[in-house]
Amino acid sequence: MSALNLVADRINALEESATLGMSKKSRELAAQGHKVINLSVGEPDFKTPKHICDAAKAAIDAGFHHYTPVAGIPELRKAIADKLKRENNIDWKPENIVVSTGAKHSLANVISCLINPGDEVAILSPYWVSYSEMVKLAEGKSVIVEGKFENDFKVKPEQLEAAITERTKIVMYASPNNPTGSIYSEAELRALAAVIEKHENVFVLADEIYEYINFTDEGHFSMGSIPSMKDRVITVNGFAKGFAMTGWRLGYIAAAKWIADAVEKLQGQVTSGTNSIAQRAAVVAWEDTSAAEMMKMAYLRRRNLVVGLLREIPGFKVNMPDGAFYAFPDVSYYFGKSDGNITIKDADQLCMWLLETAHVALVGGGSFGAPNCLRLSTAASDEALTEAVARVKAALANLK
Ligand SMILES: Cc1ncc(COP(=O)(O)O)c(C=O)c1O
Repeated sequence: MSALNLVADRINALEESATLGMSKKSRELAAQGHKVINLSVGEPDFKTPKHICDAAKAAIDAGFHHYTPVAGIPELRKAIADKLKRENNIDWKPENIVVSTGAKHSLANVISCLINPGDEVAILSPYWVSYSEMVKLAEGKSVIVEGKFENDFKVKPEQLEAAITERTKIVMYASPNNPTGSIYSEAELRALAAVIEKHENVFVLADEIYEYINFTDEGHFSMGSIPSMKDRVITVNGFAKGFAMTGWRLGYIAAAKWIADAVEKLQGQVTSGTNSIAQRAAVVAWEDTSAAEMMKMAYLRRRNLVVGLLREIPGFKVNMPDGAFYAFPDVSYYFGKSDGNITIKDADQLCMWLLETAHVALVGGGSFGAPNCLRLSTAASDEALTEAVARVKAALANLK
């Protein structure tokens, strides 16, 4: 029996991360001496703001080295509850907050706590790759609801209505969105909420991890702030994107007490409370948001640069992302075209071809539920972005 056969079925059923093959190929090319520009990553290229780092150092020096309460240290849960009240108009107590090891962990916790085998999760697409795999792990069924390019990759209320069945337990979305950068406005979220409200056993998992990278005049709106939805919306957020803290691994949920209690129970048996130093550091995050604002302005400048350049590539259809740090062009114009050797069939294959020929690493949209598109991260310098798009444009000119 091969070793693979000894792995549990639920793990064998999981997809490998979409970027894995690309990363491997990137490393091979770099080892051969090629200058690969990597725009496949989903993390800020900035450092964590100094006041947060200083608080972490102080926590180490003060001997804050031990297990914390499972749901998080009281001062962080309070700081998060205060933030949600102040910025999001969501009024929960610290006991409604559970701090976890990244927003990814928070999402997986909630899905594990709410989904029974066969329950359906309506995922607004394009969606972050891990959503459907988390649902699979919980033996649930993902129902993908497609936000079309023409509607700025957003799902309309009537589409959601048609996707909800007797088995639907959760509606899940990210706004601002990874991979599209699209943002559901207050009016759009209220319209979706009106659909969900009619189905009393349906909950909402609102992933707001890119909240601070929002370029709209309207700003961020949380579905959890709608009073009639408050008990049904689980708001997920974290520190990774807005405060450039991906490696610190800190995320949180804000939810009705019975959901927070279930997540705490699960976490108590699996991971316990997250890193003590990171929690202490995060308490001070909101004392100075100037670095977060500076990063947002840099992403905005790069968005304008990259969208302008991408729109000059023949055949590319490029939406204008309202937030996050990605561009997500529709590249289907190139499907069926060939360099005389390889015929491109989808965006995943086009990405691999671009990596090999132009030495630019991007991510195909297949695993985001959008096989016509590819994702380019703008978390890179202006020079790298300009050079990368120029290389892509030159390479594509060889596809006939
Ligand atoms: C939409 C979305 N949600 C959640 C996460 C996970 O965030 P964290 O690093 O806090 O686990 C990511 C990270 O890429 C993301 O893109």
